[in-house]
Amino acid sequence: MSNSFIILGLESSCDETAAALLKITFEKTEILDSVILSSIVLGQNNLHSKFGGVVPELAARAHSEKLDIAVEMAVSESVLDLKQIDVVSVTSGPGLIGGVISGVMFAKGFSLGLAKPLIGVNHLAGHALTPRLTDKLKFPYLLLLVSGGHCQFLIVNDSKNFSRIGGTIDDAPGEAFDKVAKILNLGYPGGPLVERKALLGDPGKYNLPRPLINSQDCNLSFSGLKTALRREYDKLKEGSKKITAGEISDLCASFQRAVAETLVAKSDLAMKRFSEKFPYTEKSFAVAGGVAANQEIRNTLKNLAIQQGFSFFAPPINLCTDNGSIIAYAGAEHFLKEKTNKADLVPRPRWPLDEIAKPMLGSGKRGAKA
Ligand code: KG4
Ligand code: ZN
Repeated sequence: MSNSFIILGLESSCDETAAALLKITFEKTEILDSVILSSIVLGQNNLHSKFGGVVPELAARAHSEKLDIAVEMAVSESVLDLKQIDVVSVTSGPGLIGGVISGVMFAKGFSLGLAKPLIGVNHLAGHALTPRLTDKLKFPYLLLLVSGGHCQFLIVNDSKNFSRIGGTIDDAPGEAFDKVAKILNLGYPGGPLVERKALLGDPGKYNLPRPLINSQDCNLSFSGLKTALRREYDKLKEGSKKITAGEISDLCASFQRAVAETLVAKSDLAMKRFSEKFPYTEKSFAVAGGVAANQEIRNTLKNLAIQQGFSFFAPPINLCTDNGSIIAYAGAEHFLKEKTNKADLVPRPRWPLDEIAKPMLGSGKRGAKA
């Protein structure tokens, strides 16, 4: 016998204030089907673009101003009544803590007012479980999570059990895209702007490094690549020469190609690790997070997956970047397994998906970052 519920997903961990309503059909603890009834994403690019990156304080204030509006819009788009919401799900970390606190406090008040259960979701789990929302992908699968703040290879064992088999030792690729856009004065967020310029450029024009490409592990590094691009840019500018649009396009194309080839080389190793661990399992490789919106990166990873006998999954672009649907979906998976009301949930700035693996980016007093 199947049953269903309506879940609200709230996201405010970076610079998108998002709310979505999903209808979840389930049997026992398993989701049979999920339908996105509405999804509202209120961006903040106008607030941050002049700084070339997200200003946490401005982001937090904007979230607290816009969360109720996003929910109102999501309810109205779904043509449901507020009272038909059965469960509230919210990103409770990791992320910019002011935004996470805004979301969690709003969700606590909202769920208390409706007398409905509240579920806290790890933002990264939202990205990691997206291929289940879009393609009903079965566990276990190999995931490359590439976003503005994170880059890691994960074996997704179940909705709460992730094994990290590698990740960045410094910047995330999205962060590198954003910094490159800042160096080239393209604006923010950098990913889509660099991608657009790269379309017209020559990817072989500048010889940029493929960091850590020969290390026999699944770790990555993007900080040196960004510095190498800056050096090429400074060379072009020598003698206060004006940089041409063609040169900007060539720099963008060369940078994007270097990121894509680095991700492909490391994904190849990660696929070998997955195959060794699960020799008899159907092999699936998924990519998620904001950088997965990049067409060259998607295409090169897809070609690799096909060569290696893996099925390839990449969410539609609007589910790669931050949104409420992925938080609602992950919340639904947790709710079915736990059936608890986390009214006491605590916002967490740091929250690795694999809590056992050694921290990649240092830990310090506040705990492991990723
Ligand atoms: O997943 P997301 O929305 O937020 C985080 O959880 O970080 O990812 C945002 C990041 C930004 O750094 C943005 O520049 C990058 O994803 N991004 C892209 C593209 N679209 C967004 N990077 C490369 N190509 C794109 N088309
Ligand atoms: Zn994200």
